[in-house]
Amino acid sequence: MYRTNTCGELRASDIDKDVTLSGWVFRRRDHGGLIFIDLRDRSGITQVVLSPDISEEYHKLAHTLRAEYVITISGKVCTRPPETENKTLPTGMIEIYASSLKILNASDPLPFMIDESSPISENLKLRYRYLDLRRPEAMNKLITRHKITMTIRTFLDNLGFIEMETPMLTKSTPEGARDYLVPSRVNPGQFYALPQSPQLFKQILMIAGFERYFQIVKCFRDEDLRSDRQPEFTQVDMEMSFIEQDDIIAIVEKLLYRLYAEIKGVMLITPFERLKFKDSMERFGCDKPDMRFGLELKEMADLTQQGSFKVFLDAIEHGGRIKGLCGKNMAGLSRKEIDMLTEEAQSFGAKGLAWIKLTKDGFVSPITKFFPEEILKQMAQRLEAVSGDMMLFVADKESVVFDVLSRMRINIAKKNNMISAQDKFVWITDFPMFQWNEEESRYEAMHHPFTSPADADIEKILAGEISDLSNVTAKAYDIVLNGSEIGGGSIRIHNTTLQNKIFEILKIPAEDIPDKFGFLLDALKFGAPPHGGLALGLDRLVMIMTGADSIRDVIAFPKTQKAACLLSKAPSTVDDKQLRDLYLKSVYTEQ
Ligand code: AMO
Ligand code: AMP
Repeated sequence: MYRTNTCGELRASDIDKDVTLSGWVFRRRDHGGLIFIDLRDRSGITQVVLSPDISEEYHKLAHTLRAEYVITISGKVCTRPPETENKTLPTGMIEIYASSLKILNASDPLPFMIDESSPISENLKLRYRYLDLRRPEAMNKLITRHKITMTIRTFLDNLGFIEMETPMLTKSTPEGARDYLVPSRVNPGQFYALPQSPQLFKQILMIAGFERYFQIVKCFRDEDLRSDRQPEFTQVDMEMSFIEQDDIIAIVEKLLYRLYAEIKGVMLITPFERLKFKDSMERFGCDKPDMRFGLELKEMADLTQQGSFKVFLDAIEHGGRIKGLCGKNMAGLSRKEIDMLTEEAQSFGAKGLAWIKLTKDGFVSPITKFFPEEILKQMAQRLEAVSGDMMLFVADKESVVFDVLSRMRINIAKKNNMISAQDKFVWITDFPMFQWNEEESRYEAMHHPFTSPADADIEKILAGEISDLSNVTAKAYDIVLNGSEIGGGSIRIHNTTLQNKIFEILKIPAEDIPDKFGFLLDALKFGAPPHGGLALGLDRLVMIMTGADSIRDVIAFPKTQKAACLLSKAPSTVDDKQLRDLYLKSVYTEQ
């Protein structure tokens, strides 16, 4: 027998019981005659004592134990002597005096200590991920992930959602990233794409009549990786028929409410705030605003027009924008620090960064001379800047102004500890349907090409009456948590004529359509119900809910920045026979 109990469950009420425990040697301490073992399993740690008075043989054997040996011990639960109790450990009032010890397995010396709190290099952790995961704080994040997925499953099941699987070996779906391709051996020269999302299949399941579908599903996107992006990640994918935007929003809010209540014991305030895309851009400079602090961007053009600073006047003349931001407590910055800030703004694409300090001696800046005092005061009032702060301005084309200031907003809030500890959700709605792709000189879908335009725009689109496509609004919505996009969805087009019209606007060549989306267009012809849905980025949600620094912490076997798995050493080369079987030839040559 390996165990009568786990290492986390024995308490003072178990004194005098004979027990058997199994686990890993977490720590071993030699205290004169006695050897103390902290024995660890998934549930916790129990102190085991080996005394020569109980068994010389096992006491001797205990000398050979090293970190991470796997052992079984039997013995009696005893009270710890006063002063040696460990109040930080749930089992800290007891210890086991072992009457037997068996080594089940040895361990090589470790590449890093499991109980070490000093930083371990990320590469080493990923290579030995199974050792990293033995650390309770690492393992607990994945256990919380499990609890989150279980709660989601139960919640959606209770609402009549059917969990279904969709193919992994499939066709390219247009979520905007590069595909991972898989060659087909039995169809020479042909490829599957791993799904970027189950988008088309879930719509077809609505056409098939399932009405409510969900899937906790892997999605694959070959894109540049960041701390919140992995090449393979998990979506909680949902789709519903006979549904409108507000219904979907309400269901997702209830789901998130339930998750926070069950996992964190936090009662969220619902309904969540909603912001239209345009307002989000104007107030925060981005479509995923962190709502845990204020520090909003403010319109400045009307005020700066009353001055004579050429940079600002020129920007407006050339159709640009000027927005300002309050640099809290930044009036003390040295010239060098301001230069660094300017360089940072330039690295985000700005031509420069204008600043005005508010000091006890008044406004200080090389550009104050261009503005009447009264205007400077109005600027400060609008930015809610007070003595000790520094006003920051960016004048440029709109996208640059928004991008630079939204990033600065976050940096300033972090530096000044302005970010509240409470998680904050916000819905972003009324997205534009299309965005201009300068490189390709064409409009592309902001969400995806199956998203429905707003009712008011549908007739006009069908009649070809819209002159400026950038004014079309989509029935699309994102859910944002603490400045991170944790989900997005839309009401879909369920009408073939409109769907074809959208493909036409997106300049998807007519000859490509049957091959790419023909199966969806066919299905839409046979009584497609109105439908819509949303996908939550599960990894990102778990990351925020567990307070993890990186998305890698909440994935059992994550990939590095270069999309490599350091544990299994994927990707790797394959032998020529495998390539031949797939009718492929490696043309890669070392650069
Ligand atoms: P979207 O492309 O917005 O929508 O993806 C949904 C959510 O998935 C998460 N996500 C990612 N997480 C980690 N790594 C990535 N590389 C990554 N890419 C996306 C984000 C995002 O909000 N088919 C639509 C959904 C729909 O319309 O129903 C879709 O895939 O949190
Ligand atoms: P200059 O006239 O180029 O010496 O710039 C004067 C100040 O305006 C400097 O602090 C620049 O960083 C800043 N500046 C230049 N271009 C811009 C711009 N597009 N937006 C905001 N500030 C700018």
